[in-house]
Amino acid sequence: MNAANPGGFSHKDIAVRDRLIFALDVPDYDQAVDLIERLGDSVQVYKIGLELFLSGRYFDLVDLLLKRDRKIFADLKLFDVPETVRRAVRRLSGRGITFLTVHGNDSILRAAAEDKGDLKILAVTALTSLDRGDLDDLGFACNVEDLVLSRAKRALEIGCDGVISSGLEAPRLRAHLDHKLLVITPGIRPVENRTDDQKRVVTVDQAFNNGADHIVVGRPIKNAEDPCKAAEAIQETIAKLYT
Ligand code: C5P
Repeated sequence: MNAANPGGFSHKDIAVRDRLIFALDVPDYDQAVDLIERLGDSVQVYKIGLELFLSGRYFDLVDLLLKRDRKIFADLKLFDVPETVRRAVRRLSGRGITFLTVHGNDSILRAAAEDKGDLKILAVTALTSLDRGDLDDLGFACNVEDLVLSRAKRALEIGCDGVISSGLEAPRLRAHLDHKLLVITPGIRPVENRTDDQKRVVTVDQAFNNGADHIVVGRPIKNAEDPCKAAEAIQETIAKLYT
């Protein structure tokens, strides 16, 4: 950890308003478009994941977002034998999508990185909904922090562009991996929150002070009375950190 920059605050060349990624977790295309309309200019980067992928009009949505100059994070968490992942990554590259998540061990991540084309590959380290008890269930004896750091180091060596990491683990990643790797942090809650499945949560300020490059926010925006206002409030918080 660098004493002048204790949390490893990110100064990468990223547009400030692109630092907020909205998790568009809705069941179908129509609801997605409705929410995109409501959000207006408050969101520039959309994460579209498995729920929408399985709804049937995923690439219509990709095209619509690209037409509006929005960036896309395809959170498909690919996990299969390396050759299948490689071929899937090839199918997704060249479509204007910016980020893609991939799970798995070194050979899976390597296959994805080798054929990524214009995609940025983000390795999933440990889901932020997991806590110590969940890791015990999965048979991991090491602590969450060691697991995340070891996965992140390997991902960087292999040629991945970044990792998904909770804001609590980000300082350790920055201390050991500096700023080479993109750190994308979900599990953001404006205030202390114990009512949903996210267990390793941080606030917007904490996430960036801990070294996140981007934050992923879903329900705090989607479930707000006025999602556009909620997203703008987060954008203002980020803008203050970057002025
Ligand atoms: O609604 P909420 O703000 O918890 O949304 C978090 C989003 O980030 C969800 O879409 C979830 O799939 C995603 N995510 C996560 N933890 C990871 C990777 C992705 O919560 N490690």
